[in-house]
Amino acid sequence: MCLSNATKRKFERSAWVATILLAALCAGGQSVPAKAKVDAKSAAAASELDWWKNAVIYEIYPRSFQDTNGDGIGDLNGITARLDYLKELGVDAIWLTPVYPSPQVDFGYDISDYRNIDPQYGTLADFDRLVAEAGKRHIRIIMDMVMNHTSDQHPWFLASRSSRDNPYRDWYVWRDGKGQTATGKGQPPNNWQSLFGHSAWQWDDKTRQYYYHKFYIQQPDLNWRNPAVHRAFEDIVGFWLERGVGGFRFDAITTLFEDPNLTDEGVVLDKNGKPVINAYGDPQLDGSKTDNQPGLHQVVAEMRATADKFASTRFPGTRALIGETYLPNIGELKTMYGTPQHPEFELPMDTQVAFINKLDVAGFRARLVDAESRLGVNTPLLLFDNHDNPRIDARYGDGLHDTAIQRVISTILLASRGAALVYYGDEIGMKTTPPSRKADVKDPIGITGWPKEKGRDGERTPMQWNDTANAGFTTGKPWLPVPPNADTINVRAEQSNPASLLAWYKALIQLKKTVPAFARGSNVMLDTENTKVLSWLRQAPGAPRVVVTVNFTAQPQTVDLAAAGSGIAPEKLKTLLKSPGAADPASLHHIALGPYGVYIGQML
Ligand code: GLC
Repeated sequence: MCLSNATKRKFERSAWVATILLAALCAGGQSVPAKAKVDAKSAAAASELDWWKNAVIYEIYPRSFQDTNGDGIGDLNGITARLDYLKELGVDAIWLTPVYPSPQVDFGYDISDYRNIDPQYGTLADFDRLVAEAGKRHIRIIMDMVMNHTSDQHPWFLASRSSRDNPYRDWYVWRDGKGQTATGKGQPPNNWQSLFGHSAWQWDDKTRQYYYHKFYIQQPDLNWRNPAVHRAFEDIVGFWLERGVGGFRFDAITTLFEDPNLTDEGVVLDKNGKPVINAYGDPQLDGSKTDNQPGLHQVVAEMRATADKFASTRFPGTRALIGETYLPNIGELKTMYGTPQHPEFELPMDTQVAFINKLDVAGFRARLVDAESRLGVNTPLLLFDNHDNPRIDARYGDGLHDTAIQRVISTILLASRGAALVYYGDEIGMKTTPPSRKADVKDPIGITGWPKEKGRDGERTPMQWNDTANAGFTTGKPWLPVPPNADTINVRAEQSNPASLLAWYKALIQLKKTVPAFARGSNVMLDTENTKVLSWLRQAPGAPRVVVTVNFTAQPQTVDLAAAGSGIAPEKLKTLLKSPGAADPASLHHIALGPYGVYIGQML
């Protein structure tokens, strides 16, 4: 979790016209010799194994994507109905945030049954149909797997809280209070806090102990020191693998374990030595005893081994494991890939790049170099936002050039080496739209933290499909209001506009898939002293090299990517994609970029 309070309101006034020049791809219709057929077969098998390495993974918040039954809440059939859109966009996989039965306190992240679908979203049959229809379009479905906690309505917790000697008691983290007596509950066992505000310990009157919850009170933490919990989740993961899912995104994975001695966490101090107070009015703690604790890697390795068991059954290909890994540095991130003997995640999220939160060329360059050089042979998973963070406009936009800035960000996301997470609606430039009144807030942290923390509703508003009532999301009353800007920012409008952000995303994704230097090339930074323009080279053995250059400023800039000492010869360039306003450069010596302009060219 990384929640920012700084949800700035932005408006759009962009005059950019994209000119998209994609390399033409032609497939010949000649007959194929036998050896070539064998080669094609092994290439197909290899691509099934490696599909995730250059994948575009599209995150859907199902509640907000497409409603088909008029209840104002998106559903699985809505996602199935929109698969052709996703196919055309070029996505390889869809990550669904949780769709399991849930009381919906945390909109699905409080699960009460791990082997079914919440009736709000549909049925298991609808899910199977989604997997099958997505499969026909070579799109995999990735499930969210929440293992840190369950709902307090899950039968395991109901049993656990029913008595101290129930067999499920030890599935959760129960402790006596400090100074607890036969009649008094004392104080919570230590100073640990919920990430969602206030003490992480909740007193339970029936069995007279406190239970630990890193998130909402209704989300009691599981006890990962209990081997039965491990076995239960291996079975659950197997259940979904048998239904053909392409992998999992492991939620809040770094919080599985806590310090067994329950040592207090440190209080974060400001530069004057005073405690930093968070949006909930509590002193900010350093997370040193409840995050990234010993034991975590073993669990991930177990899940990896479980997923690998399914690699050769009914559904071919690697099951990719994604980690929700907010970590303090690249060294910690590297450990989440595991080792060759004990592999862990294929794709732990790289939050180092995502949350720089300002257009700082040197900062981006340093973090991208880290992703390229400090993760060993592993594949970075880049992203810029998700259902927990204000969208790109609120963290990188300037209110005047938002569409152009979105082109800059999406180019970094999709023209760098690795897999990429795209949050639904980013491809059309949807804007963060937080509630303006506390009474309208749906996300409980927005109620606890109002007005400093307005919650996450602003980045979860309904997908904007067209300019009809409710943006084509629902015929009912949408669970969150559709932003007024849906009149102009919507899929239908952008589909018919070759200059739109949607057209830009499609073009970038197509380049990512079809240009060999993008599909398998490394990243090498160019012009590394420049503080206004970020430039890099993509190169793969035997493939033409490609340069990418993005202007981080509102002023026009010119770069010389073949300057003396750069090691790059001033070859001719073929434009693959560019923002408008820039003429095709005559050579690498002189590439002119407009405000927040982008240029991608292949060396001839
Ligand atoms: C993760 C989810 C977030 C959820 C939390 C608790 O951070 O992304 O939405 O609230 O876990 O499950």
